[in-house]
Amino acid sequence: MAERKPWGGRFEAATDARVEAFTSSIDDDRHIALDDVTGSRAHARMLQETGLISAAEGADLERGLTQVEQELQDGSFPWRAELEDVHMNVERRLGELIGPAAGKLHTARSRNDQVATDARLYARRMLTRIGDALGALQAALLEQAEAHVDTLLPGYTHLQRAQPVRLAHHLLAYFEMFDRDRERVGQILGRLDRSPLGSGALAGTPHPIDRARSASLLGFSESTTNSMDAVSDRDYMVEALAAASLSMVHLSRWCEELVLWSSSEFGFCIIDDAFTTGSSMMPQKKNPDVAELVRGKVGRVIGAQVSLLVTLKALPMTYNRDMQEDKPPLYDGLETWARSLEVSAAMAPAVRYRPEAMRAALSEGFVTATELADYLVTKGVAFREAHEIVGRLVARCVADGRRLDELSAEELAGHDPRIDADASSWLDPEQAVERRDLPGGPARDRVLTALAEARARLIRGQA
Ligand code: ARG
Repeated sequence: MAERKPWGGRFEAATDARVEAFTSSIDDDRHIALDDVTGSRAHARMLQETGLISAAEGADLERGLTQVEQELQDGSFPWRAELEDVHMNVERRLGELIGPAAGKLHTARSRNDQVATDARLYARRMLTRIGDALGALQAALLEQAEAHVDTLLPGYTHLQRAQPVRLAHHLLAYFEMFDRDRERVGQILGRLDRSPLGSGALAGTPHPIDRARSASLLGFSESTTNSMDAVSDRDYMVEALAAASLSMVHLSRWCEELVLWSSSEFGFCIIDDAFTTGSSMMPQKKNPDVAELVRGKVGRVIGAQVSLLVTLKALPMTYNRDMQEDKPPLYDGLETWARSLEVSAAMAPAVRYRPEAMRAALSEGFVTATELADYLVTKGVAFREAHEIVGRLVARCVADGRRLDELSAEELAGHDPRIDADASSWLDPEQAVERRDLPGGPARDRVLTALAEARARLIRGQA
């Protein structure tokens, strides 16, 4: 006969083997196994301090939990499939290690507040790691930006050459995206900073426990305020996966650009061998697989967010077993996000930009056409009319296969008499960038200020 479960008193027959397999969360629980020990340790200590268990029982539990932790870490923990989840596996193992005191650990606790605590500890751990990875990626982008203040390239809209910018300015745009991601991580960490331990199954416990004490032992600032909400609140998981989805979308944009820029068609950068792979068939290939894979993992993370939301939708109060399905997407979403960020932070310094190729791209595509229109505005021409005048000039150049800066002063004046000899300086990309001397703009001094400000923000965020 199958082993009786800890809740066995109510049951006469053993669980059907198929039910056992279907309801088990053991395969997923390895992610929170150590957090489970951490939660139990704090609970046991609180029980002892409040006199709910004896000092000897407390010492036995501490000793047993240390041993369990060791076994989990070195892989020798004897997981038993029939015990459904990590909570009961740990409790059973404690019984083997320390005897009857193990039975006291679940005093004033339910698996509902226990798993709610474990999952928060896990999320806190992962979000902290993710915040660090975001900071590392930002630092790498910032360093590249600092090295490329004087590298000019066409800025793009619609993937068409639009206006000249500094590479530093371009890279700082990504810095800003990841900075918002990091800020979001901090906000989520702030909201999940409450301990659900002591909420019991849903209605607390009659025993005189000290919730503030277990909260503080676990490093939470305070306890949750409603026991029913506490055992069924998964908001922070949804928020974390929403932040993950958005951040992965940001990563995908950066990676997409690396794929484009490292192609022969663009030639704007070279990704070091260490972050590319070859083709098994075509000897000449050097593929940006890391960038492609990060881009590809976005679907998985957005899928995790959708999966979690659908699981939670319309659940009645309070804990329902459906909530066991909240954790696989949480684990997969956060692990994927963390690993994508970490490999991206490592890859960022391995991107070598090619200022000459960027410079060459600047000379094609009429990137200073807007400048010429703005020049006419300084001569008193309405912008709409100036736009029309320059548009016709560009059309003529396209037809003749010429560039704007190849036109002589006479040809320019011939097109419109208000285009004087001083117009030619407006066709120089360098000067075009320098005229954009406004807060948030790409002029050299503005970019230097932005770099210093970004550096200070990064240091503040990492403090
Ligand atoms: N494996 C469960 C989960 O992840 C643990 C909590 C089970 N609680 C219960 N009352 N069955 O949600």
